[in-house]
Amino acid sequence: MATERTLSIIKPDATKRNLTGKINAKFEEAGLRIVAQKRIQLSKAQAGAFYAVHKERPFYDELCEFMASAPVVVQVLEGDNAIAKNREVMGATNPADADAGTIRAEFAESVGENSVHGSDAPDTAKEEISFFFSGLEIVG
Ligand code: PPS
Repeated sequence: MATERTLSIIKPDATKRNLTGKINAKFEEAGLRIVAQKRIQLSKAQAGAFYAVHKERPFYDELCEFMASAPVVVQVLEGDNAIAKNREVMGATNPADADAGTIRAEFAESVGENSVHGSDAPDTAKEEISFFFSGLEIVG
């Protein structure tokens, strides 16, 4: 199995409800190691740059407003098959479709306010990690 790194974001709906520790426990229980982490406040423009791939989607503006509405916790998770494993732990984008025990099934409020983001592939993981972190900030 390949050791991978993935970018995770604990979103405003979760930081506002003080769920960072409970979400981190789910990652750690699944064997994902938090090798970098910081709490930041995104501007709407920064959120827009991060989600540029969704620019043409009808929810883009709402998504950027939401991501800038309160602090987020950005993280690098490391482990065997970390990208897929993290998506498994997160559950489906829409909490109504998420399997029991996943972060979104337990904590998400809607398809937009869904508590966590995780990279979806190795190339996007690399890009997303470098959007938020320098090499010096990641300690494996
Ligand atoms: S996925 O997993 O990329 O296929 O999911 P997708 O449906 O394409 O959604 C991409 C991100 O947009 C968010 N989203 C929304 N935000 C606000 N309103 C609505 N209606 C909405 N639908 C989707 C969704 O939470 C995904 O966020 P990330 O951070 O990428 O998981």
